[in-house]
Amino acid sequence: MVFKTRTHNCGELRESNVGELVVLNGWVDTRRDLGGLIFIELRDRYGLTQIVFEPGFNSDAHHTAKDLRSEFVISIEGVVRKRPEGTENLNLQTGLVDVMVNKLVILNEAKTPPFQIKDDTDAHEDLRLKYRYLDLRRPSVQKNLILRHKMYQSVRKYFDENSFVEVETPVLMKSTPEGARDFLVPSRLHKGKFYALPQSPQQYKQILMVSGLDRYFQIVKCFRDEDLRADRQPEFTQIDVEMSFIDQENIFEMMEGLMQKLYKEIWNKDLQLPIPRLTFDEAMENYGSDKPDLRFKLKMETLNSIFANTGFKVFHDNIEKGGIVTGLKAPGCGEYTRNQLDVLTDFMKKLGAGGLIWIRVKDSENGAVLESPTMKFFSEEEQKNLISKMDAKPGDLLFILTGNKLKTLSLMGSLRLEMAKRLELIKADSEPKLLWVTDFPLFEWDEETKRFYAMHHPFTSPRIEDIPLMDSDRANVKARAYDLVLNGSEIAGGSIRIHNSELQAKMFEALGISPEEAELKFGFLMNAFKYGAPPHGGIAFGFDRLAMIFAGEHSIREVIAFPKTASGISLMDDAPSIVDEHQLKELHIKIR
Ligand code: AMO
Repeated sequence: MVFKTRTHNCGELRESNVGELVVLNGWVDTRRDLGGLIFIELRDRYGLTQIVFEPGFNSDAHHTAKDLRSEFVISIEGVVRKRPEGTENLNLQTGLVDVMVNKLVILNEAKTPPFQIKDDTDAHEDLRLKYRYLDLRRPSVQKNLILRHKMYQSVRKYFDENSFVEVETPVLMKSTPEGARDFLVPSRLHKGKFYALPQSPQQYKQILMVSGLDRYFQIVKCFRDEDLRADRQPEFTQIDVEMSFIDQENIFEMMEGLMQKLYKEIWNKDLQLPIPRLTFDEAMENYGSDKPDLRFKLKMETLNSIFANTGFKVFHDNIEKGGIVTGLKAPGCGEYTRNQLDVLTDFMKKLGAGGLIWIRVKDSENGAVLESPTMKFFSEEEQKNLISKMDAKPGDLLFILTGNKLKTLSLMGSLRLEMAKRLELIKADSEPKLLWVTDFPLFEWDEETKRFYAMHHPFTSPRIEDIPLMDSDRANVKARAYDLVLNGSEIAGGSIRIHNSELQAKMFEALGISPEEAELKFGFLMNAFKYGAPPHGGIAFGFDRLAMIFAGEHSIREVIAFPKTASGISLMDDAPSIVDEHQLKELHIKIR
């Protein structure tokens, strides 16, 4: 089909072009037929331009234009004119002009799309994902992909300027479970053997340090077969980084520079450095989360000291067992009805809380007093101290939870987020809040399997001063690990690594990984360490999460071109799918 290539894109024409003969190519966005006159908004990636078909101007083009429908692909030639007064559209960049068409070529027809191609669509997400190619025509989704593209460019430029080398690492690797479940790929040539898709290039990047690359980064796909949430995908992208001859401070400084650049280039905001820090313990005690959202206050208070000698058995027993009593003040919620409080109690019970103590703060001649069915168990002294510790004012509502330390803190953290939601404390224009969380525990106890796991991964170094505790007091060993948290979302995590094979062996032992198993799974890394490994450490950003926050979205699917659903399905191409018997046979696989 003969057509003229465009002289301008659909977002380009201005008053200065009036009188020019132009060619535009694009999709029919909207069409208005006013009897004699046909108005079409022509769309491409760059914007919309109104084009006009008038029988008197060119009757052939006008005649063909009658057949145009939404999403037809067309090429037009015409003259730019200033729109008649009163018909300008100030919402469009091209809204002061339109194009009087004298030639029209229909390049392709289109079926009626299953949903309208416009930003504020109410189409169900499943439908949008099934017809993702149409969904991706929507300007808001295109904007997100372009933002992502800008982020890639900024990131690559930053690391290049700082002497980092981008190295690609294998996608088919050895299965070395790091925490999540591996995706496996059967080998045709080696019967019964499997590759795994990398959960992250962790071992490779450490080996690159052994090889002397010194500063590595990669924008890389990672694969984890885990349950999905709004901020998780089975395949996702990391900005993966590793550096040699450094300590934690060097990593912080380098990553803070990156965040400052991204803030400026994506948000046009000046990020004040250094980024504030909280230790894991502080984050848990004050906010009940290792990724606290600091856009709002609602700080929790540890109340153990107030109840150190309490007669209230539940508190007493928990404190005795090393547990915690933690409180949260919901300002101005003292008038919550019994029904509202029951709903909150249920919410907490569903999350695993034994119960929720609530206390209304009332006014009296002597100032604030506490009112709650639980008050009969608190001494006057305890009540007084509680009011003062929590800075309780008449009209406030207090919550108290008690139990196992980390679990209880994290439950209260969930209540903190829930109350922030109810009190609408997070506003669309709330300043973004970035922080480092440091000094994570090295080990995490799993009640179910009754063993310790690496909280980060098995290559993370303990704090040097804590090494002796690795045998005697595992729960209290802190790691040289850190996360970067933005608006309550973990956007990056990393650590200083173990770089000597003895300490690595000790770590495996602590994790209950036998020397044989370690050799089998991580032998190559352990061997590499025997040939002169430099001290090294690194970090990886969740690129999709970062893009989601920069784009102001609430789901990472909005910033991924072809995402999977929450159940891991790609609705557009129907993956995963059945394969034919022949393929299975070649792979030596039989479906059980
Ligand atoms: P980690 O497992 O913390 O560390 O991952 C780094 C960051 O990747 C993001 N992320 C995800 N994003 C989307 N979907 C997922 N399923 C998903 N899982 C993780 C998070 C997270 O902070 N190798 C180490 C890094 C290191 O130690 O250098 C690692 O992968 O934003």
